Amino acid sequence: MVKIAFNPALAQKALVKEPIVKDPELAAAPVGIAGSTGRCLVTLLGIAFILSGLIVGGACLYRYFTPKRLYHGTMQFSDMSTVGDAERQPYYLPRVEEEVEITDSMAVISVPPPRFRPGEPAYILHDFNRKLTAYLDLTLRTCFVIPLNTSVVLPPQDLIDLFSQLMSGSYRSYLVQEDLVVTERIDDIKPLGFYIRRLCAGKETYRMERRASLPDGGIQKRSAEECLTFHHFENKFVTETRICKA
Ligand SMILES: *[C@@H]1O[C@H](CO)[C@@H](O)[C@H](O)[C@H]1NC(C)=O
Repeated sequence: MVKIAFNPALAQKALVKEPIVKDPELAAAPVGIAGSTGRCLVTLLGIAFILSGLIVGGACLYRYFTPKRLYHGTMQFSDMSTVGDAERQPYYLPRVEEEVEITDSMAVISVPPPRFRPGEPAYILHDFNRKLTAYLDLTLRTCFVIPLNTSVVLPPQDLIDLFSQLMSGSYRSYLVQEDLVVTERIDDIKPLGFYIRRLCAGKETYRMERRASLPDGGIQKRSAEECLTFHHFENKFVTETRICKA
């Protein structure tokens, strides 16, 4: 008190000091607000992060799993190689039945074992993004991979249209033959993409080529070959795929 009385400067200092002393308390409030703003931001960022994770994850799941559409179709076909011989045309045309799952990026065809003719049950997968086709022989549990032939396999929307037509009745068509030759074993199936990896995981997997594209034209001793035959359709005609070990 005495000091304050005698030394107004000090008193003033004290007066000045007082707010300075108080300042931290006053400052404490803004610091608190800043702190909570910070926490708020971190929380918001966290929520944004989790949401973006959910959105990306959801998009992936959606792409890989959800918009599956299942179709069933039957095609009757006449074999062009016997067509000239009208009397030998069978009274009942052979038919191919299949179940297909179609998405924007792939189509999986389930070929049941044929009833009245030779052929193997199989899954045939067309990956439209990777531009690859894989045949999984269900008897041998072996996969065969070849580049997707876009002149044989209709794009997804056209496939859906075709199968929608087939749902309302059987379709008469013709047979196209395709000769494929096994070229090499694939040890690492990862580069073949998600779908083929899922289909062929744990199975022996081989690469194939069209016989016609082989250097020697593929004219070989066919009788000595082991071959598999698949009947399927992913267009307005039935394809008979023969896969042979060279
Ligand atoms: C696609 O298939 C057609 C009919 O079998 C054939 O003529 C053509 O050469 C094939 N194209 C490719 C790139 O393999």
